[in-house]
Amino acid sequence: MNQTAWTNSLALSGHAGYGRFRLSHLKDGQRPDFVKAYVGPLVAAHRHNREQAKLPPAERRIARPEKLHLIMAGGVGAGKTVAAAAAGSLAVECGMMARFVSHSMYLSWLRPDGAPAGLTAVRIRERYERCDLLILDDLCNEMDGYATNHVRTETSDLITSRINSNRPTIFTTNLTFDQVAVVLGERLASRVGGQASVLKMVGEDRRQPEKW
Ligand SMILES: Nc1ncnc2c1ncn2[C@@H]1O[C@H](COP(=O)(O)OP(=O)(O)OP(=O)(O)O)[C@@H](O)[C@H]1O
Ligand SMILES: [Mg+2]
Repeated sequence: MNQTAWTNSLALSGHAGYGRFRLSHLKDGQRPDFVKAYVGPLVAAHRHNREQAKLPPAERRIARPEKLHLIMAGGVGAGKTVAAAAAGSLAVECGMMARFVSHSMYLSWLRPDGAPAGLTAVRIRERYERCDLLILDDLCNEMDGYATNHVRTETSDLITSRINSNRPTIFTTNLTFDQVAVVLGERLASRVGGQASVLKMVGEDRRQPEKW
C-alpha cells in the first residue's frame, strides 16, 4: 500500500524511472551516509509515534526529529532527484508513507481544472500535506519571474501544515536560499531552512549532455 502510493506518486510526477534507485546506487558526491543519517531519525520517530498513538491522548509522548527537513542543493544534473528518490524508497521500506511531487506540478494541479483525472484540489492538498515524508522536487524552479499569490499561498499552506504536524519534507533545488526567498518570501524560506539539514551536491552534470 505504501509502496504503491510511492510508486504512483513518482509516475504521476513524470519520474517513474526514479523508483529503482537505492542508497547503494548513490555516488560519493550524493552523500549516501548523510541521506541515511537524515532518514534514520525520521523512521525512529515515526515508529515511536505509531506506538504512542495506541495510548490515550493524555499519555502520548510525541517524538519529533531534530531535523525535519533535508535540502538537497546543487547544480543541474548533480544527482539531487536520484538521491531524494533513494531516500524516499528507504523510508517506504521502513514503513513510512512517502510521496514525491515536483513543486511546479503540484501548483499546476491546484489551478482551476488543473487536477489530474479523478482528483480534486482538496484531495491533492490532503495527499501531499498528510504523507509521512514528502519529496518536493525542484523547489521554486523557474518561478522567479512570477512569484504570484498562488505560488506563495499554496506553497506556504503545504509547508506550514507539514511543519505544524511534525511531518518531514525533502526539498531538492538548484537555487540558493536567497533565490528561494525571492519567490516564497523571507519568512517561509526561513521556516524551511530553520530546521533543515543541507546536503550540497557538487560535481559535473551526471547526464553528460552533448552541448551545442
Ligand atoms: N547514482 C547514480 N547512478 C546512476 N545514474 C545516476 C545516479 N545519479 C544520477 N544519475 C543519473 O543522472 C541524471 C541526473 O540525475 P538527477 O535527475 O538526480 O539530477 P538532478 O540534480 O535532480 O538534476 P536537475 O537539476 O536537472 O533536476 C539522471 O539521468 C540519473 O538517471
Ligand atoms: Mg532533479
